[in-house]
Amino acid sequence: MRAIVISKNGAPEVLEWREVPDLRPGRGEVLIDVAASAVNRADVLQRLGFYNPPPGDSEYPGLECSGVVAEVGADVEHFQVGDRVCALLGGGGYAEQVTVPWQQVMPVPDNVSLTEAAALPEVACTVWSNVFMTARLRRSDTLLVHGGASGVGTMAIQLAKAFGSRVIATAGTAEKLARLRELGADEVINYREEDFAEKAEADVILDIMGAKYLSRNIKALRTGGRLVIIGLQGGISAELDLRMLLNKRAAVHGTTLRSRPTDEKGVIVRGVVDNVWPLVSAGAVRPVIYAEVPLAEAARAHEMLDSGEHVGKILLVR
Ligand SMILES: NC(=O)c1ccc[n+]([C@@H]2O[C@H](COP(=O)([O-])OP(=O)(O)OC[C@H]3O[C@@H](n4cnc5c(N)ncnc54)[C@H](OP(=O)(O)O)[C@@H]3O)[C@@H](O)[C@H]2O)c1
Repeated sequence: MRAIVISKNGAPEVLEWREVPDLRPGRGEVLIDVAASAVNRADVLQRLGFYNPPPGDSEYPGLECSGVVAEVGADVEHFQVGDRVCALLGGGGYAEQVTVPWQQVMPVPDNVSLTEAAALPEVACTVWSNVFMTARLRRSDTLLVHGGASGVGTMAIQLAKAFGSRVIATAGTAEKLARLRELGADEVINYREEDFAEKAEADVILDIMGAKYLSRNIKALRTGGRLVIIGLQGGISAELDLRMLLNKRAAVHGTTLRSRPTDEKGVIVRGVVDNVWPLVSAGAVRPVIYAEVPLAEAARAHEMLDSGEHVGKILLVR
């Protein structure tokens, strides 16, 4: 088979489409003929050498895919050859085929094409696990989403709105803010022009900036609020006046999805299938796709992500 290989760490052109050894599914694994994958910021970090795959996962980039089941290993439940699926991967999505534990595989939701389905696993699992499982968003809550135009952000806005919560989202340009309103955001803030902590009050904050926003995020939290940090785009260490946290009886969580064991990912995936897929099928939540790029040209897709002009997901299609 062929796959995108990170030939060395560096700029997008280090991504090379090459012949690599064929795969067979192990016990509990499904082999998928990949129809599409999608680019995540984590893939860029992996390309640069800052985010190696967890032990046992594929060296090739790609945290999600859609496709058709080509073979099933021993002890696989629920899936058979020919099923149209999408999957949350530890790596290896930028390839013609990928193996994955069956617990991380999902049916393609009704109302979504096989290609479009590749835009969903990573963002749906990230938002479901952080906003709903960890931060326990309630209908009466307000959610503040940083990076509303990111793949994760576009899903967070739609899902929280479909659930019935109020949503505030940040982005860096007027065009992006307009898109976030179209996706359902009740209030939008241009983080380049305004300090969100002066404007927003939220019960739950989904943060991708880390250190740079820590104090301001706590300031923006309401009493009993929950801050979930999933990205460190603004640095890894910061000082915090802990009195703010105590006085608000607030919680700060930090999580990663990729490093979780299969059974934990399985719980998240089942939560997504039970709670998110019906909203997708009903048209209340849609994959937000900025561009489709041939898989062999993954370098071009990374350049696009690096340029930061996208809203939503960049797909890699076979
Ligand atoms: N922990 C986990 O399990 C997990 C899982 C998935 C994703 N993530 C993280 O979630 C983030 C989004 O991932 P993605 O793949 O969806 O990325 P992406 O599409 O590349 O989006 C990155 C976003 O960062 C925004 N941004 C940059 N500077 C900002 C600032 N000062 N304030 C607010 N937003 C700012 C950009 O918004 P503008 O273009 O408007 O500037 C852009 O929308 C990444 O940090 C990623 O590492 C974490």
